Amino acid sequence: MIVKNLEVFYGNKRVLGKIDTKFSKDEFVLLLGYNGSGKSTFLKALSGLVNYSGEIIVEGNHPHYFVTGYVFQNPETQIIGSTVWEDVIFGLENLGLDREEIRKRAQKVLKITGLYDFKHMEPHNLSGGQKQKLAISSILVMEPEYLLLDEPLSMLDKNDRQVLKELIFDLKKMGMGIIVATHNPEVFLEFSNRAIFMDKGTIVKDSNDVLEVVDMYINEVET
Ligand SMILES: Nc1ncnc2c1ncn2[C@@H]1O[C@H](COP(=O)(O)OP(=O)(O)OP(=O)(O)O)[C@@H](O)[C@H]1O
Ligand SMILES: [Mg+2]
Repeated sequence: MIVKNLEVFYGNKRVLGKIDTKFSKDEFVLLLGYNGSGKSTFLKALSGLVNYSGEIIVEGNHPHYFVTGYVFQNPETQIIGSTVWEDVIFGLENLGLDREEIRKRAQKVLKITGLYDFKHMEPHNLSGGQKQKLAISSILVMEPEYLLLDEPLSMLDKNDRQVLKELIFDLKKMGMGIIVATHNPEVFLEFSNRAIFMDKGTIVKDSNDVLEVVDMYINEVET
């Protein structure tokens, strides 16, 4: 995925400016930066959820938002179905896929995320961790190549954090590209092979030396 001259304005305020970079599916990228530095906006632009100018080019002959799936920080934002199953198949029904394909995809994904036994449950009765899994499931059924996670663990308790972390690592092993915006890079260190440090809507550091970028980020947070 190639990103050229990406810019986002909210009103007349530029919050993302002239970003040029590329991503590949074998990457697990940490997206670091202070509050308001543009991490969420960047991820949302990559998945077509905000208006942007510039280009986002992906392989194959489809729009970039077909290959990028953005998971909101607060899973509640994203839940729309009246049961787990309904929620997961919603996007697929909108795509007009046939019933058997929808059933197969939903079943496969719910087994991966561990929610299959809860498929008849109402989403509001799920635990925090299960809600986050549901939000991820509803994105996974769309079969994106890149999973864009915005502070995926921040709303969760310690136990759920561990479970979700393992799920994210499993998805990486299955071959998905992962980009995680986070204030807690240490959690994902063992799997990350690239880190990007954003400030005021631009990339100020981008390296495969993850520790170097994380150190820079932590030092700047402390000073
Ligand atoms: N819907 C919006 N309308 C106007 N301004 C917005 C909107 N969303 C974000 N902003 C502004 O855009 C800038 C970038 O915000 P963004 O949420 O992308 O930062 P972030 O790095 O994700 O921050 P955080 O670490 O707090 O999640 C900030 O100045 C923010 O106030
Ligand atoms: Mg954010």
